[in-house]
Amino acid sequence: MIKKLVLSALVLTSSLFASNEVNVYSHRHYDTDKKLFKIFEEKTGIKVNVVNAKASALIKRIESEGAKSPADVLITVDAGRLYQAKQKDILQAVNSDYLNENIPANLRDIDNKWYALTKRSRVALYKIGSGIESKLTTYEDLAKPEFKGQIMVRSSNNIYNQSLMAAMIAHHGEEYSLNWAKGVVANMAKAPKGNDRYQVKAVANGIGQIAIANTYYIGKMVDNKDASQREAVKKVKVLFPKFENGGTHINVSGAGVAKYSPNKDNAIKFIEFMASKEAQKLFAEGNYEYPVLEGVKASKLVSSWGTFEDDNISINTLGQNNKAAVKIFDKAGWK
Ligand code: FE2
Repeated sequence: MIKKLVLSALVLTSSLFASNEVNVYSHRHYDTDKKLFKIFEEKTGIKVNVVNAKASALIKRIESEGAKSPADVLITVDAGRLYQAKQKDILQAVNSDYLNENIPANLRDIDNKWYALTKRSRVALYKIGSGIESKLTTYEDLAKPEFKGQIMVRSSNNIYNQSLMAAMIAHHGEEYSLNWAKGVVANMAKAPKGNDRYQVKAVANGIGQIAIANTYYIGKMVDNKDASQREAVKKVKVLFPKFENGGTHINVSGAGVAKYSPNKDNAIKFIEFMASKEAQKLFAEGNYEYPVLEGVKASKLVSSWGTFEDDNISINTLGQNNKAAVKIFDKAGWK
């Protein structure tokens, strides 16, 4: 009861100042985002209130808050989670000419319930001198017996891996994907543990020869106070695998307007700002992500790793195939 009272008091407070704020529930926890929120506040006079947590917790929270939820915007770091949010009916369609004209159709929800704000590709990093670059060109290759004991990759409960598997399913179907997963498991240097940076460090230290990681982590390791990260990343190189019949796997960080958003106009303004040239530049320069807005370039460092073609499947597919991906990981014994 007390909890309920506190909650409704919060809702009341937020609706009193409705026109001057936007409540952002975000899984992103980057300094770049904090800078962007500040710029948005200065430009518009709209105060940005942020709730930071994992996407799964934020989605649950919005669900349980129901029609009284103060959430205006949900931001996640993976297309699979945006899809889940849509399936749970906690987002609403947005009608924004700017977003519809500037965010490519394959990078937004088919019903305009969410839009990508940045792209990241999931790549392979190999130890310099290992010769991996002449043997590995596709994601499919990762299951080849010649890479036995060489692959470092995090656990399958991680959504980035689930989305990579979802893309594999889109290209080859479930039977092939299961065999692929079994092949990768057989090639693992160690049982999955740690985050993407951990895999890169392991390869730099001679445990395995190929690490799977998202691109922005490489940028963050180069530009890091921690010398062990800077040193590790000097020993590896980025390789952009592609699918046999497609391009390099990309995922997105994106945003949608919450179904019961009390400040809907501000929410749309906020997402439009995040997709503006100014914000896109900052995502690229400050957080080493790939911009979604045409005409904005990746940072110098990110560009130095090389170019690639985005995979040709719609980003919507990553969410649609998520459940099948999780099942395949379980069957394949990918911890
Ligand atoms: Fe991440």
